[in-house]
Amino acid sequence: MCGIVGYVGSRPAVDVVVGGLRRLEYRGYDSSGVAHFSGSRIEITKSEGKLQNVETLLKTVSTAPAARCGIGHTRWATHGKPTTQNAHPHRTGHVVLVHNGIIENYQEIKQQLVARGHKPVSETDSELFGFLVLEKMDAGRSMLDAVRESFLEVQGACSIVVMSEKEPGRIVGVRNGAPMVAAADPQGGVILASDAQPILEYTRDVVFMEHGDLVVGTEAGLEFRELQSGRPVARPTSRLDWTPGALDKQGFDHYMLKEIHEQPASIVDTLNGVLDRARAESFPLAAQPAVELLAAAKRITIVACGTAWHASMVGKYWLERWMRVPVTVELASEYRYRNPVIDPGMLVIGVSQSGETADTLAVIHELKKQGIATLAITNTRGSSLSREAQATVFTSAGPEIGVAATKTFTVQMLALLCFAAAIGKQRLDPAGRAELETVFSQLVRIPHLLEEYLSSPLRTTVQSIAREIQRSRGFFFIGRGTSYPLALEGALKLKEIAYVHAEGYAAGELKHGPIAMIDGEMVVVVLAPTDAWREKTVSNLEEVKARGARVIGVGHPADEMLKKVSHHWIPLPGAELHESLLPFVLTPVIQLLSYELAVLKGTDIDKPRNLAKSVTVE
Ligand code: M6R
Repeated sequence: MCGIVGYVGSRPAVDVVVGGLRRLEYRGYDSSGVAHFSGSRIEITKSEGKLQNVETLLKTVSTAPAARCGIGHTRWATHGKPTTQNAHPHRTGHVVLVHNGIIENYQEIKQQLVARGHKPVSETDSELFGFLVLEKMDAGRSMLDAVRESFLEVQGACSIVVMSEKEPGRIVGVRNGAPMVAAADPQGGVILASDAQPILEYTRDVVFMEHGDLVVGTEAGLEFRELQSGRPVARPTSRLDWTPGALDKQGFDHYMLKEIHEQPASIVDTLNGVLDRARAESFPLAAQPAVELLAAAKRITIVACGTAWHASMVGKYWLERWMRVPVTVELASEYRYRNPVIDPGMLVIGVSQSGETADTLAVIHELKKQGIATLAITNTRGSSLSREAQATVFTSAGPEIGVAATKTFTVQMLALLCFAAAIGKQRLDPAGRAELETVFSQLVRIPHLLEEYLSSPLRTTVQSIAREIQRSRGFFFIGRGTSYPLALEGALKLKEIAYVHAEGYAAGELKHGPIAMIDGEMVVVVLAPTDAWREKTVSNLEEVKARGARVIGVGHPADEMLKKVSHHWIPLPGAELHESLLPFVLTPVIQLLSYELAVLKGTDIDKPRNLAKSVTVE
């Protein structure tokens, strides 16, 4: 996802900005760029691909070393391909900007701008904001007022940093959704960034900007304003007393929490690895041996354990829906000893974060010996599974330190979705293909959506619910469709890190037995996003509520009815999302609920008792 750095002060601005972008590389991106003042002129250097390309170009820009004010950006393409032209910073006349997030009403704004004679040169939503600022500045407004008034015209969660040749040595930033951190440089000047990482080299005193904050940075320091009213506002400075260990955890109390927050970036990196984003089509798979294996499969069996098994179960819904092949998902430890029926047309896929899980490995090893096509999906390069299978799809979640799998779960699901959709689209009718185009255009926005969701009051909501239910006797997680494996995963997370008894159930199965356990000491977490199964899941909610259970409803904000019947309510983002994408927004909810309950119980969250990160014995 996009990263932003802005600097004005007495240091070499380009070095500060490029160094900051390096620290934001972990967020994932596909192009980057830097703009710096040279006198009163702004020069832009940008390129598709890695930041290294921009650094190489900057070596030939003679004015770069002397610059004392600049902004920079790493871009994750949502509107338009990852080309140099679409890369940020964008120039519109004397206005130059970088943007993180999405302008939802960009079509409407674009039409108005074109009608007024403007000619956007990129395919991005971001560039349009520059025209709005330009028009207002040319009508006599200051950059601050122009940015503020323009921002009030756009909808969507985003952060923007702007410079103008009419006001050299000044940067104006806005935070509305996508995070932004600001700090005064002890040597004079200021630095703005998408998170604290680029700032820590210079100071540990930072301001975490709030939604709807505007900031003006000059060599004299920082000034905050309210976006709506434009009035000055005071924002407290937080001292980041991060020990080396905490630095490693980027200020999060646990690796698990850090890794939950890394999910947007893991999605970006995995999409960059699995897809060829330069191709202008939906789900443009990069050439890889896995494609042939999947395309040739007459039926698919996925083997996995634990969380990977749950991700595979979600994958089954997508593979069957989009590819129209029969899929079975098997616990590797059961399948390997079952003498299963195999046939030459089948493909067996081993899904494993570590790539070392003994049971999963054994199945792949055995079936390969019998001539069956084998594929691995793993997060670990060089792992035994990747060496054993005929082909491997590598997910790119980066190292996962917490024993509880979080971000690797998300990217396992993602890899399966990409293949199901990419191969499926060749087989579908025009209506199906059009549907997949919608799924794809929404999928590339999921990192932004999740980043915003994770920086919203979600955690505070979950914390206060956790406090109220912490003494409950047990938990059920229920859901239907793709929310069913999510229910299983929610229960597994709770057991493994909070040591609380929990079960995941297909909502329709409750009345076939487990409902006997329901009473006032039980909590039922009802995963009921707005999808084809929602109505039936809500009926199951009524059944458990009637028997005294405390109900945590998880659904979309417009679902007033679900909210009303739930004792506790967790709203999901992305009401407009295609139902195939709902697992990605449910995931942080179930992870955070377990995490907060574990915090209250005081368990060893990153190293839960009796568990190992990689289960290399059967
Ligand atoms: O490395 P793998 O993905 O093969 O591991 C499978 C399970 O051992 C693993 O998912 C385990 O269930 C985690 N502790 C879940 O958080």
